[in-house]
Amino acid sequence: MQTANRLPELRAAVDSLRGARGEVALVPTMGALHEGHLSLVREARRRAPVVVVSIFVNPTQFGPNEDLAAYPRQIEEDARLLRAEGVDLLWAPPTDEVYPEGFATKVSVGGLSERLCGASRPGHFDGVATVVAKLFNQVRPDWAVFGEKDWQQLAVIRRMARDLDLSQPSAERILGVPIVREADGLAMSSRNRYLSTDDRQRAAALPRLMRDAAAAIAQGAPVTETVDRLSQGLLGEGFARVDYAEIADATTLQPLGAVGSAPARLFVAARIGGTRLIDNVAIENG
Ligand code: PAF
Repeated sequence: MQTANRLPELRAAVDSLRGARGEVALVPTMGALHEGHLSLVREARRRAPVVVVSIFVNPTQFGPNEDLAAYPRQIEEDARLLRAEGVDLLWAPPTDEVYPEGFATKVSVGGLSERLCGASRPGHFDGVATVVAKLFNQVRPDWAVFGEKDWQQLAVIRRMARDLDLSQPSAERILGVPIVREADGLAMSSRNRYLSTDDRQRAAALPRLMRDAAAAIAQGAPVTETVDRLSQGLLGEGFARVDYAEIADATTLQPLGAVGSAPARLFVAARIGGTRLIDNVAIENG
């Protein structure tokens, strides 16, 4: 596996790999890799002969009181995992390569970015859209692969690609990969490692109560009452706060008071022991 830290090296390496082997798939990450990330890498490998993974802890998507400084960084271990997956190129730029002196541009996807996580993390999706637009322009991949755990992020990025007529990759070639879960159902996340042993055990209530609520709604239970019961259940299981628990249209993320024929999902963000966990599940009706 080659590693590039500066843009000219990246461009030279991508050009040469593309020339020798063909299409390129990019997996953007912030490192601290786990099985969820590796499932993205494997999907990228199925799509294209050249796989590039980026590791960049993007400061602009963290709010002032968030965990930027504490965010886990383990580049050596990450590189080892990626090498074992047969990744061709690791793009690991320093902050000044991505945000040089005088950097002043922001990509902002209206509407979609303001709901759900956007409401409790103002500016977060502007940071995500800006850095992903840059990563796309830097690597110019034919495919890009993201996790469905960050469902809203995926929706924002696809909207951005459509709205800006991006072609590398086009919106159709921005792929979502299903959530990878621990044995007790907790969605894998780099932030799970912040959980104490006790909170880690309690955290399994999140996917369990979500699954129950989604199944009840699919069978006709009223949305508002069921989602309220889910929030109360989480607080009863030791969660400190529920940022949101909502049924929304899977594409537009508009809140739904009842499920119809359009795909709907249950979205939750909740805090336990200072760690914010997010998850989403489909409402499988019919
Ligand atoms: O999902 C992530 O790890 C990040 O939000 C991303 C897409 C790499 C942008 O920094």
